[in-house]
Amino acid sequence: MITDFQKQPLLANTNMYLLDYFSTWHILTIFVLLLPITPLPGAQVDTSNNPVMSFNVNRYWDTRHKTSTTLQSGGDKGLSEEENKAFYFIRIGRLLEIIRAIHGENHHLSILDAGCGKGLFTNALRQCGYHVVGIDSSPTAIEYALEEFGGEFLVEDLTSYRHYQLFDVVICIDVLFHLVDDEQWRHAFCNLASACKSSGSFIFTDSLEQERREQGDYIVHRSREDYEQLIAGNGLRLRDFSGYKFGCNLNGFAVVTSVVWGEK
Ligand SMILES: C[S@@+](CC[C@H](N)C(=O)[O-])C[C@H]1O[C@@H](n2cnc3c(N)ncnc32)[C@H](O)[C@@H]1O
Repeated sequence: MITDFQKQPLLANTNMYLLDYFSTWHILTIFVLLLPITPLPGAQVDTSNNPVMSFNVNRYWDTRHKTSTTLQSGGDKGLSEEENKAFYFIRIGRLLEIIRAIHGENHHLSILDAGCGKGLFTNALRQCGYHVVGIDSSPTAIEYALEEFGGEFLVEDLTSYRHYQLFDVVICIDVLFHLVDDEQWRHAFCNLASACKSSGSFIFTDSLEQERREQGDYIVHRSREDYEQLIAGNGLRLRDFSGYKFGCNLNGFAVVTSVVWGEK
């Protein structure tokens, strides 16, 4: 009769035997079977027809936030530091005008800055008294914003974002046209639209041209019609569009509200 104590070496031997067996035939077989589908180190995978695979948006932005100056990070990398400063000032001023035109002088508005980058718009709006939460998918950008400004900054991907509160205003400055995958662009838009109160407004930027326009690896401008379809599908209405009018930049602020917005 074998006691429990005596069984242990026996089991240990069996395990050793199994391990030996696996380490020779099974591991070799698995390796040979996986060979055709596993890219070898350094091998090129042709992803030219798949923009999602060929371009990793999150990696691009996190690296850009790590390696660029504060203003070029989320601003226009083709502009100098001084030019970017002017670019930010102009947009912040215009954004404030738009928010005041819609919501009056109410400084207690809650605002979601979606794709806030290093938090420059978030901070400017907070300075004006608004309660602003900043979210971005780049951990580097959020770490910077937390260190520099504090307050509520969260690492969140707009495509999977689930709001935990409704906001009076949702802003999304120069982000949507960087979502090159159409499904992800749609998801992000719907997530943000649903984070607005029914009396609220969604202010995003793009160029809203007649035709869809792709620019390099990481920019897809959807047409005005594409946006209007998405906006109507969310039970919303495009109220206004005003271009930045900064150099040759074609982008501008699009203001979306609920269809019955402003009706008493
Ligand atoms: C051009 S920058 C604009 C940053 C900021 N709005 C500003 O104007 O300073 C675009 C930002 O979108 C963020 N972003 C890109 N895709 C995102 C996604 N799926 N979810 C959240 N943020 C995203 C990037 O990390 C980057 O900070």
